[in-house]
Amino acid sequence: MRGVVLISGSGSNLQAIIDQADNIDLNISCVISNNADAYGLTRANNAGIPCHVIDHTQFDSREAFDQVVSETINRYNPDIIILAGFMRIFTEAFVQQYCGKMLNIHPSLLPKFQGLNTHQRVIDANEKEHGVSIHFVTAELDGGPVIAQSRVAVLPSDDASSLAKRVLIEEHKLFPKVIHWFTQGRLELNNGKAILDGKAL
Ligand code: GRF
Repeated sequence: MRGVVLISGSGSNLQAIIDQADNIDLNISCVISNNADAYGLTRANNAGIPCHVIDHTQFDSREAFDQVVSETINRYNPDIIILAGFMRIFTEAFVQQYCGKMLNIHPSLLPKFQGLNTHQRVIDANEKEHGVSIHFVTAELDGGPVIAQSRVAVLPSDDASSLAKRVLIEEHKLFPKVIHWFTQGRLELNNGKAILDGKAL
C-alpha cells in the first residue's frame, strides 16, 4: 500500500516506520511536515523519500492550510495517511475526506490525557500506568476509535522525560504493527468502530 506520513518534529516514529516499511508492506510516497526544522525531514531525505514542507504560519486560516495539505496528499493517491507526531489540528472537512484511512499516534492511554503534555500530566495525576494509543482519526481531537494500546508502568523516579523515553520505545513497536494490520486489509473503520479481523476492538 501507498502511505503518506505527516510529521512536525523529531520523526522517531517515522524512522521506525521507514525501518519496517518492507516488512509491513508499506511504500512511503512522501513525508509532509508543517515545520521546516523538523529532524524527521532529514530522516526522510536519508531514506530517499520525497518531502514537502507546508508551514502553517504562512496561511491565514486552518481551511487554507488544510487545502494545501490535502492537495499535496491527493497527488500521491495514498491508501493510508499516517500522523506520526503531527502537531496540528485539522478541520472537520479535512478529516472527513480521509475517514477510515487516517491513523494517529497519541502518547497516552486514551481516553485519558487527550491533548498536549501528557507525560507531565500523568505524573502530576499520580497515575500508576501510562502508555500509547493508536486510533483512527475522526473530527474529535484524540477522540477517534482506539485500535491498540501499549502500557508502561510509571516509576516513582520518573520525570516527564524519562517517562516519554519509555513510552516512545513502545510507540516505535506499536505503530508499525498497527499499520501492518491496515496494509494487510485486516483493519477498518466501520460505523464509527475500529474493526480488526471482522471483530470490533
Ligand atoms: C510522540 O510521542 C507522538 O506520540 C507524539 O509526539 C511524539 C513525536 O515523536 N504525538 P517523533 O516525532 O515520532 O519522534
